[in-house]
Amino acid sequence: RLNIGKITTGSKSLDELLGGGVETKTITEFFGEYGSGKTQICHQLSVNVQLTPEKGGLNGRAVYIDTEGTFRWERIEAMARALGLDPDKVMDNIYYMRAYNSDHQIAIVDELFTFVPKNDVKLVVLDSVTSHFRAEYPGREHLAERQQKLNSHLHQLMRLAEAYNVAVVVTNQVMARPDVFYGDPTTAVGGHVLAHTPGVRVQLRKSKGNKRIARVVDAPHLPEGEVVFVITEEGIRD
Ligand code: GTP
Ligand code: MG
Repeated sequence: RLNIGKITTGSKSLDELLGGGVETKTITEFFGEYGSGKTQICHQLSVNVQLTPEKGGLNGRAVYIDTEGTFRWERIEAMARALGLDPDKVMDNIYYMRAYNSDHQIAIVDELFTFVPKNDVKLVVLDSVTSHFRAEYPGREHLAERQQKLNSHLHQLMRLAEAYNVAVVVTNQVMARPDVFYGDPTTAVGGHVLAHTPGVRVQLRKSKGNKRIARVVDAPHLPEGEVVFVITEEGIRD
């Protein structure tokens, strides 16, 4: 656990749940239903990684791999302004990449092994890691093949995190209600995709209004229990 860096989420209680923030040299998976805040957290971390270490950042740049087309520069601008940062500089320090299918997504990650060390990147976001794989390998009959491809992709991401001391953050949408479970364990509640990869798994749930609940699963080294955070105009906060 040498030289591990931590990136603040913007919420002190969420940071504490994660042992101080999102860590480098590992994968952190945020999983939860639609609207639970996965994409907002990814935007916030892409801004916060640029902060100085005193302010919870790593003086680094972010790579944002978007598979669903839900990235918004305006949101980055608002979050940067809220922190008193120059929005244009903050946007310059985010390398946006759109992945159009799973093969493209895998090829982008391959290229990151040369791109990341050359560009002071300290955070790689993959929002979402599962959507293309689910669309291209649908149903039970493709489950084994899909899971195998995903596992090898995740191992590649883990090597990237370890090799260059970067934080890798992935998202995974799961269904809200277990009664609509069609036998696919990766879409069920708690059916996080990192089951066979080391890393930190954070479940997000919707609460009243802009409140969200986070819980870390299967991490003996992290505090148990749940924390509440909010999604405001400024971004992720306590
Ligand atoms: P899926 O990708 O559909 O699975 O959802 P997600 O988990 O990525 O949800 P996301 O992070 O997109 O969270 C959506 C929620 O964030 C919305 O319901 C809004 O409450 C909030 N949100 C998104 N954009 C803004 C914004 O610009 N301002 C504020 N105040 N809230 C926002
Ligand atoms: Mg999203």
